[in-house]
Amino acid sequence: MASGTDRFTGAIEKAERLDTPAYSVANVLSTVLEATGTASQPIQNALHGTWLGHPLHPALATVPIGTWTMALGLDTCDAVGLGPQRAGQAADLALTIGAAGAVAAAAAGAADWRQVHGRDRRTGLAHAALNSTALGLTIGSLVLRRRGRRSAGRALSAAGWLTLAAGAYLGGHLVYRRRIGVDQADRSPEPRGFQPVIALAALEEDRPQRVEIWDEAARARIGIVLVRHRGRVHAMGSRCSHMGGPLDEGWVQDGGLVCPWHGSRYCLATGRVLDGPSTAPQPRYQVRVRDGQVEVKRVPEPGDEALTPEELGAAQAAEVDAVAPAGARKADEVLFEHHQLLRRLFETVEAMDPQDPERRDMMRLLAAELEIHEHVEDEIFYPAVRPVSEDVPVAHAEHQQLADMLAVTLRLGPSTPAFEEQLRALHQAVEHHASSEERSMFQEAQRLGDARLRQLGAQIEAMLDDERESRARRAFRAVKIRLLEGL
Ligand code: FES
Repeated sequence: MASGTDRFTGAIEKAERLDTPAYSVANVLSTVLEATGTASQPIQNALHGTWLGHPLHPALATVPIGTWTMALGLDTCDAVGLGPQRAGQAADLALTIGAAGAVAAAAAGAADWRQVHGRDRRTGLAHAALNSTALGLTIGSLVLRRRGRRSAGRALSAAGWLTLAAGAYLGGHLVYRRRIGVDQADRSPEPRGFQPVIALAALEEDRPQRVEIWDEAARARIGIVLVRHRGRVHAMGSRCSHMGGPLDEGWVQDGGLVCPWHGSRYCLATGRVLDGPSTAPQPRYQVRVRDGQVEVKRVPEPGDEALTPEELGAAQAAEVDAVAPAGARKADEVLFEHHQLLRRLFETVEAMDPQDPERRDMMRLLAAELEIHEHVEDEIFYPAVRPVSEDVPVAHAEHQQLADMLAVTLRLGPSTPAFEEQLRALHQAVEHHASSEERSMFQEAQRLGDARLRQLGAQIEAMLDDERESRARRAFRAVKIRLLEGL
């Protein structure tokens, strides 16, 4: 059954009667923009936030939200005679600043709203109506305050704040549920090395051509658009970052590729946005021609976790220096053995009678081994395999999830039905984590080389011993587990 908020947004999204006023408002906005002539595009770029590289509207919206919330607090202090002496004056100032910010946010929001359609246009109209009402109430409040009617003014601005909150909810719905304003480009890291995609002879001057490459991790085809322009071949992601429009169906204009949906123009050479409404650059690819074939390679973005051939080379160079202690086992073998121990401990706890007083002790042992496992992987294994495996960030996230689930399990009494259910869920989550490591990360780790893996294996075994034998470590874990159990 839909929640109350889903019913609220659903009713607005279905309200076709909003289409007529929405169309009229959009027409008025277009007429106003067209009246500015050649300045229209720079004005639109400024309002969308193309110059900023991020949408401008949400940044400006923080001004009324922040200042009007502050005014609400100051007004409350003023009304009850608490807080700073000039709280009322400060509230007036905050409301005035917020009103100016609301006007600027409305201008930027209106520019963005012109580009959306259907249910999102209806929601956007309701969002704008609520925010405009909030602005009207705030301005009314400021007028009343100037006339000395502070109580009425406070009531009006409080109503404005509530209306703004409802409008902000719809704004959040448009972004987080409907994905309006978020980057829609495919940002796959593939291909990491040059990959042939098409014969050069198949490319016509200024005629965009779509090709596809396969991303194994995403299990998806990724579109790339190639453009032959003035003796060079350029490549960028074919899915427009604004709303996913097909750039391969666009056209070349002034050194840029124009999206056929809303006219965003991207620099052929860099993927940078030249004209909005888009604010995010297109994914870029290096291009070279070998034996008449066009080859492309993805240009990594700042902060990419993607493995590059250079990183792999560095990781493999580390193998040359690695000296493994005699008889050491490889890291993946040691960790697999520990996975098996965890599996046996789960089976033991699950098989025990719920009333067995030793069940809690066995659960504590399992909790301790889970924590040790997380610790050695986080400290030794993951940093070492990061250059050769993209699974590390996901594995870290899963560790966090497992720690949260373990905390919930420990808090439940081991003889309760809720404990059985939670234990089963934890067991499944651990099994998922362990088996995906065995299937993927342990295989990728082989690229580090035998010697390096044996060196890591020796470090992991030493740490496992230390974690189990160190009195301080054992005491720390015992206290932590008792705290999680609720003492
Ligand atoms: S999808 Fe809107 S400009 Fe490309």
